Amino acid sequence: MRELAYAPYSRFLVGAALRDASGQVFAGCNVENASYGATICAERSAILAMVAAGQRTITSIAVFTDADTLAMPCGVCRQVISEFQHDARLVVANPRQHRVLDFAEIFPEPFVLDR
Ligand code: THU
Repeated sequence: MRELAYAPYSRFLVGAALRDASGQVFAGCNVENASYGATICAERSAILAMVAAGQRTITSIAVFTDADTLAMPCGVCRQVISEFQHDARLVVANPRQHRVLDFAEIFPEPFVLDR
């Protein structure tokens, strides 16, 4: 997925893949835009594919770059991941190493709309 990223502005290619509760895998990549704020991150791209396929629960999500500093999901992606499962497993990886984390560890207190 990383190789499919559209990142002509930052040249920072990101791939993401997630497994949902039914065992299906959905993948995404970052898609940048000339209007920079319109950029969509790889994680959210994978989540949109999951929701569009009728699924709602992430069990694990992986983020893949070629950066030596393993890329963690940005703040916006953390909030979006938490919408579809707070107790997911998170894998951050490059071709040389990977780290496995509990998503809740890196985003302990999500915003929840409780009116
Ligand atoms: N990016 C992601 O795809 N996921 C993240 O969690 C952080 C950043 C992308 C957005 C942009 O295309 C590029 O990385 C540089 O910020």
